[in-house]
Amino acid sequence: MKVASFVAIALVGLCSAYPGTPRGWIPSSPEDSRSPCPLLNALANHGYLPHDGRDVDRDTAVDALEDAVNMDRPLASFFFDQALNTVPVANATRFSLHHLIQHNAIEHDASLSRPDAFFSSHQDVFDPAVFAETRSHWPDPVINVRQAAAARLGRMRTSNRTNPAFELNQAGAPASVAETAVYIIAFGDIEAGTVRREVVEYFFENERLPFELGWERSKFVLTQKHLENMSGRVVAETESLTGGAAKMDSTEDSQIPLVGVEL
Ligand code: HEM
Ligand SMILES: *[C@@H]1O[C@H](CO)[C@@H](O)[C@H](O)[C@H]1NC(C)=O
Ligand SMILES: *[C@@H]1O[C@H](CO)[C@@H](O)[C@H](O)[C@H]1NC(C)=O
Ligand SMILES: *[C@@H]1O[C@H](CO)[C@@H](O)[C@H](O)[C@H]1NC(C)=O
Ligand SMILES: [Mg+2]
Repeated sequence: MKVASFVAIALVGLCSAYPGTPRGWIPSSPEDSRSPCPLLNALANHGYLPHDGRDVDRDTAVDALEDAVNMDRPLASFFFDQALNTVPVANATRFSLHHLIQHNAIEHDASLSRPDAFFSSHQDVFDPAVFAETRSHWPDPVINVRQAAAARLGRMRTSNRTNPAFELNQAGAPASVAETAVYIIAFGDIEAGTVRREVVEYFFENERLPFELGWERSKFVLTQKHLENMSGRVVAETESLTGGAAKMDSTEDSQIPLVGVEL
């Protein structure tokens, strides 16, 4: 008996020691803390982060991003610092997922799967109607950078037209670009700039890593360089779609800084 449970525990330990191994998934319950970020919610649902979404420290966040999507530790740590800035306590060392709801900290308007803060405070919850607009720009089984850019641009145009408080500020604009870049990088083919539509839809809709669709964690380490490169490609396609007229944020001439890009 004792030996058997020891072996069982040792096996569990071994499995979790191999990054990329598919993990169990338990949906959130109303008491759990969740965020406007579908990836962080997925990581909590899988237990890479605490399932209750609370009190995430640096090592936990960095390990989770490395294990789940093979993100390198400097980039993961940079994102963690952004998250700490949303905690309403001086010198915080941990954040909870709901802290990320704070509007115009990282959270911004014209999201792909959430309504603008003007319309709803439920930024932690996936919104099927908003996402229906996003996915209407993806006509093919494989999404390319141009179609990903078109989806983001469409959401920006809708927000501009319908939300009297619409704003994409100096933090929100690059964050919006980076979020489109990062789902291509995490779930698709970085060089080709493509990602399977069903994988992306499954990820957003279920807040679950798409293991059962045959997705596998990137074989190589994802760095800031990859994110900057893909962000640059998203910006270039957006400018091409608008004939160069529309820049990335609401002020006409502003350029997206691609260095130190935020998520
Ligand atoms: C510690 C790391 C991270 C933090 C603190 C973070 C935080 C956030 C926040 C606050 C948002 C809301 C922005 C908005 O749409 O208004 C967001 C959106 C998003 N995040 Fe993360 N994120 C992290 C890592 C990642 C990673 C690694 C991915 C990779 C797939 C990812 C994918 C996304 C996507 C696709 C969105 C856009 C959601 C939408 O527009 O509806 N995030 N993230
Ligand atoms: C936060 O850290 C700063 C700088 O180390 C320090 O001066 C300040 O007293 C700290 N505040 C709290 C509330 O701990
Ligand atoms: C992204 O990387 C590819 C391959 O290295 C390169 O050809 C392309 O110019 C880069 N794009 C941007 C916007 O940095
Ligand atoms: C909304 O679109 C108009 C027309 O293209 C543009 O002039 C304006 O700057 C946009 N507003 C914001 C807040 O982005
Ligand atoms: Mg938002």
